[in-house]
Amino acid sequence: MSARAIVLAAGKGTRMKSARPKVLHDLCGRPMLWWVLSALRAAGVDEIVVVTNPELDPLLAPFEVRTVVQPEQLGTGHAVKIALEAIEPRGGCVVVAYGDMPLVDRTIFEDVQAAVDPDAGTALALVTARMPLPSGFGRIVRSDPSAGSGQAVERIVEAKDCTPEQLAVDEMNAGIYAFSEPMLRETIARVGNENAQGEYYLTDTVELLIAAGRRVAPVPVADYRSVLGVNDRVELADARSIVNRRLCEEHMRAGVTIVDPATTYLVPELVIGADTTIYPGTAIAGTTRIGARCRIGPHSRLVGASLGDDVTVTESVVVDSTLGDRVWVGPYAQLRGGATLGPDVRIGNFVEVKKSDLAAGVKANHLAYLGDSSVGPRSNIGAGTITANFDGVQKNRTKIGADVKIGSNNTLVAPVTIGDNVVTGAGTVVIRDAEAGDKLVGNPARSIAKPAET
Ligand code: UD1
Ligand code: MG
Repeated sequence: MSARAIVLAAGKGTRMKSARPKVLHDLCGRPMLWWVLSALRAAGVDEIVVVTNPELDPLLAPFEVRTVVQPEQLGTGHAVKIALEAIEPRGGCVVVAYGDMPLVDRTIFEDVQAAVDPDAGTALALVTARMPLPSGFGRIVRSDPSAGSGQAVERIVEAKDCTPEQLAVDEMNAGIYAFSEPMLRETIARVGNENAQGEYYLTDTVELLIAAGRRVAPVPVADYRSVLGVNDRVELADARSIVNRRLCEEHMRAGVTIVDPATTYLVPELVIGADTTIYPGTAIAGTTRIGARCRIGPHSRLVGASLGDDVTVTESVVVDSTLGDRVWVGPYAQLRGGATLGPDVRIGNFVEVKKSDLAAGVKANHLAYLGDSSVGPRSNIGAGTITANFDGVQKNRTKIGADVKIGSNNTLVAPVTIGDNVVTGAGTVVIRDAEAGDKLVGNPARSIAKPAET
């Protein structure tokens, strides 16, 4: 039977001190909530209901997930009750998780689903973790705490309701549950709010189920860090470094050298070829594909970039651009807005390329701006040259042919077309189209290809 899940995300997340809802804060290129939803989907959950609040609800459209608004946050038990009212009774198992637990992976959701077994009387399986200092977490109270984890779970006591002895318990409630759906429906109606916070606690279902003769199965996780919730920006940073490390490890195991995972920032779904090396201080984001044997970084940023094989990008920025095999970029260059570089192109220091097609073997090695342009194969752009592409009203294109040599410090005033094999002298200002083979100097440019008429 396909599984269903309820994800609670209606809380205000006040400790983030943010105008942005907590579950939408970025964690390695995706909102926190995305991580929970994708782990659930990977674990075979095909129907998810997210409990939201009125402000958050409209912002969840991009997730393409069903939402239910909890108008007032009266507690996790109340949130689950509202979600159950919105879904058809169907039997089977319902997973309940919290939207602020981005470190949970597929296997934890699989294990907890496997542990619930209504036919054998196990109405609820819940994930627990031992941790050195469970501070704000609910404590797992077992029938005889001194007898250790072999004892049956009796109930969960929220930190604010704990006796000093209960506070000393080092086993906490992770907040991941698999319930028998009919038994959850029956029990949730009986959860009250007589506790320190005056809230309806989902965790009270444990005691109620046991009183009704059901069993509750604990599912301990080996590493408590995988179930840590994020409540403030300090915890967000901790979670980010764990998720980032996992992303780096995936690529390292697949043949990528990452010199310093702690200062290499990745996002999910990147493609990086084998024997590529990523140097420190490098961020790779968006939908980026990097070929084999590339050298990226140090101190570089790639967003929405597509790189061939044997490409070097050093101390540079590449955004929404495509680079062919053996391209060299940097140091201190910026490619953006649909720059397309053919094989063997070389872009050197302080060169910006925007919305331009550079054919195979083009070189712009120093201090240049190429915007809205196309440059034919093997052409060389001299130091200090710019395409003056903006006339104050609109952007105009510069077309440069094959094997052209643009001298140092040229201004190419667009719209302008420069034919194949043209050569320009230093400081030339090209304001009119140049025929193939022409030689130009001066401001405005004049031809010196033919002897001047007398
Ligand atoms: C909860 C558990 C606690 C557990 C901890 C794990 C309860 C009563 N306690 O405590 O045992 O150790 O998580 O992180 O469940 N939410 C709603 N509607 C509400 C209240 C909360 O949707 O009315 C959502 C929040 O957005 C959040 C989640 O439920 O994503 C948990 O709520 P939170 O207030 O953070 O509970 P904790 O105190 O962390
Ligand atoms: Mg919490």
